[in-house]
Amino acid sequence: MGRYRYILSYGIRDSWKYARDGWGIALHRICSRTGSFPPSLAHYFVMKYSRIGDVVLDPFSGKGTAPLEACLNGRIGVGNDLSPEAYVLTRAKVRPVPKRRVIEWIDYAERRLDPSSYDVSEVDDDVRAFYSNYTLRQILAVRDLIDETDDEDLANFIKAMMLGILHGPTKIHLSVRCSHSFSMAPGYIKRYVKENGVKKPKRDVLKCLRIKAERVFKDGIPSVKGFAYMNDARSLPIEDESVDLVVTSPPYFNMQTYAWDNWLRLWFLGYTYEEVRRMLFQTESIKKFEGFMTDALKEIFRVLKWNRAAIIVLGRVKLKGKVVDMAELVAPIAEEIGFQVKSIISDSIPKANKYLWYLKEGDGVSKEVILELAKGEFQPNNIQVDWSSAEPLTIIKDYEEVIKA
Ligand SMILES: C[S@@+](CC[C@H](N)C(=O)[O-])C[C@H]1O[C@@H](n2cnc3c(N)ncnc32)[C@H](O)[C@@H]1O
Repeated sequence: MGRYRYILSYGIRDSWKYARDGWGIALHRICSRTGSFPPSLAHYFVMKYSRIGDVVLDPFSGKGTAPLEACLNGRIGVGNDLSPEAYVLTRAKVRPVPKRRVIEWIDYAERRLDPSSYDVSEVDDDVRAFYSNYTLRQILAVRDLIDETDDEDLANFIKAMMLGILHGPTKIHLSVRCSHSFSMAPGYIKRYVKENGVKKPKRDVLKCLRIKAERVFKDGIPSVKGFAYMNDARSLPIEDESVDLVVTSPPYFNMQTYAWDNWLRLWFLGYTYEEVRRMLFQTESIKKFEGFMTDALKEIFRVLKWNRAAIIVLGRVKLKGKVVDMAELVAPIAEEIGFQVKSIISDSIPKANKYLWYLKEGDGVSKEVILELAKGEFQPNNIQVDWSSAEPLTIIKDYEEVIKA
C-alpha cells in the first residue's frame, strides 16, 4: 500500500452517498452547471467539520453549493469563483432576497417592459440561433431592466434566475430544446433547427420567471447571509487565519471547459467566453497543474485558522490516454505547504497507490477522490448525519417573511 490512508466513501455509515437523489433545498437548483458536486456532499462536510457560527469557504465555488449549505446550517458561507456566471450563482445562494421582492420586481417589469423597441438584428447570429425574435426582444429588455435595478442583491438574484431559464429542454426555458446544464455549440443548434424544421418557441419571459420563482423559493432561503467574491483563488480578498473550514473542488485538468460550457450565459451577462477562458485556469499539463495547486493551497493555508480542516474534492481523470489520480498528485504538494494529509476518501480503494495509473479504457475515470487535510490537529464532530430527516437549521419560509414585514 502507499503512504496515505484510504477510506471508502461508501464505507462511511452516514456518507453523502446514502442521501436520496436530488437531496437539498430547491434554491440549490436555481441553475444547473456542469462539474458541480452534490449538495449532500457539501452538507456532510459542513456538518462534520465545522460548528455553528464558523466561516466556511469555497475558493472555487462554481454554483455556490458549499457556501449555501454552510448558510443553511448556521455557518457563514463564503464563495469565490473567477467565472462571472459562477459568481452570479454563488452570490444568489449566499445573498438571496425574499420571494416577495422578486414577485414585486416581476410585477414592476410587467408594467415597464417595452420589448418592441429592441432590434434583434444587431444580436450575434450564434445567440439568435437559440431564440425566436419574439423571445429574444424580451430577453434584451429584461436584461436592461435588471441593470436599472438599484438593489444589487435583487438584481443579482433575477440575473441568476434568468441564467437558470436561458436555455434548456422544458417550457420554462426560453430557447429551442437543448441542454440546461451547459450552453450547446451554436453550429450544432443551427444544423439541428434547419434539418428538423424546428420552430423556435415564443416564450413570455416574465411568465417563465414567475414559474421559476415558485420553484426556487419552494423550500425557503437561509436566514444567515454569506459573502461572494470574483477573484483568482490564488489571491483571495480574505484575512489571514480567518476561515474555519474549506470545502472546495478546483478545476480538473481539461475535463471541464467552464467558459465555453457557459458561453450563452456569459453573453447574457455581457462577457465573451474568450475573455473568460483567458482568465480561468485550464491545462492539460501535469506540471502546470501542480504549480497552480501549489499556489491555490498556499492561499488556503494562509486564510485557514490553525487546528482546522480543508476538504479538497478531486477526481480520477483521463489525461492523454492515462488515468491520473489527482489526490495522489495533490497530497505531496499539500504536505510540502504544511498540511497533514489525514486521509483520501475514495469511491474505490486502489490496489497500490501509484502516482499515475495506467488502467484500461474507462476504468476508474471521473471517480471522486477527496483529500482530507488538516492545518495542525483536527478531529471531526462526533455526530451522525441522518439523511432521512436532515433539515436546514436556518431556513426562512416565505410566510415568516410576510409576518416580519
Ligand atoms: C470543479 S469547479 C467547482 C464546482 C463547485 N464545487 C460546484 O459545486 O459548483 C471549479 C471552478 O473553478 C473555477 N475557476 C477556474 N479557475 C479559477 C481561478 N483561477 N480562480 C478561481 N476560480 C477558478 C471555475 O469557474 C469552476 O467553477
